[in-house]
Amino acid sequence: MKVDGVPFRTIWCDDDGVTVRIIDQTRLPHAFETTALSSVESAAHAISAMLVRGAPLIGATAAYGMALAMYDDSSDANLKDAHETLLATRPTAVNLRWALDAMTTLLSPLPPDERQAAAYARAAVICDEDAAICESIGDNGLPIIRALYETKNDTVNILTHCNAGWLAAVDWGTALAPIYKAHDAGVPVHVWVDETRPRNQGAALTAWELGRHGVPHTVIVDNAGGHLMQHGRVDMAITGTDRTSANGDVCNKIGTYLKALAAHDNAVPFYVALPSPTIDWTLMSGEDIPIEERNGEEVAVIAGKDSAGKVSAVQLTPDGSPVGNPAFDVTPARLVIGLITERGVCAASTDGLAGLFPEHARAA
Ligand code: MRU
Repeated sequence: MKVDGVPFRTIWCDDDGVTVRIIDQTRLPHAFETTALSSVESAAHAISAMLVRGAPLIGATAAYGMALAMYDDSSDANLKDAHETLLATRPTAVNLRWALDAMTTLLSPLPPDERQAAAYARAAVICDEDAAICESIGDNGLPIIRALYETKNDTVNILTHCNAGWLAAVDWGTALAPIYKAHDAGVPVHVWVDETRPRNQGAALTAWELGRHGVPHTVIVDNAGGHLMQHGRVDMAITGTDRTSANGDVCNKIGTYLKALAAHDNAVPFYVALPSPTIDWTLMSGEDIPIEERNGEEVAVIAGKDSAGKVSAVQLTPDGSPVGNPAFDVTPARLVIGLITERGVCAASTDGLAGLFPEHARAA
């Protein structure tokens, strides 16, 4: 997608063929800065400190992290260490494990002197594939938005949670891809952007990227969605997911479940958009998905720009108040009207997913 007319992805390899570059998402929306990753440790830090975040981008960064490790030392021991270091960064998005397994499966059988080139090439392919997959998600979600527009003959109001736009992937995004496609096709859309406490991925990132692309949107507090749905001001909801179990249960940013409940109560169609590497075929229930518990400081302290334009952080909570910070929740498949994937739209169910991805279907 474009930033001030210049096409950008969220991650790429510099002209030296070694250094990996990312957009530092901790600086958005008040500053657009890129930063270099030059070691597996810097890639791991970028994931755990959330300079990069969003399930597909976490996977892409891990792939490049493996490439950086192979540049440094392509031995068997370092291959194993790099895999373990990167896998330990964040527990919930399964794209991380998917990308690391893909890299290790490719690299292990190769002689060490061939691993660096193979790793960089595979990481680049993972990025290209992610961009293509996300664009297909957009193409497959567009008819849903278009149909709503043709029914009401007025702007389609879409609620989203967290950031599942191009900043969360390599390009296009997941939940926002159908919205970009609709906007670009001239279908009038307006997006209700949940601020998404505690890290405010909606207020900071989704609002920023929608604004840069010219998509009409309004930032709302996380608690407003139910009220808007009760008053007929939400036509559909679309979110992303960090891990979807084989039965269609959806794990996503904390608060997604409450939006799905409100959508169900108000007959608002609730869709989830996902690339296939986000499906965990080993899990038959979302109950088994590990939920990341992050540092309470993310809840207690908030950053923002003051009237002088200076970005600083302030503490919200009383000194000493204990703080909890579960980062994700699981929305049961029964609350999800459809899963929008690169292969099409299916029911959030074992049969629905197996129908689109028969190569993963388990024998009965
Ligand atoms: O903690 P984050 O910002 O990495 O969480 C991101 C989300 O929850 C996204 O909705 C999810 O990764 C899907 S992104 C395409």
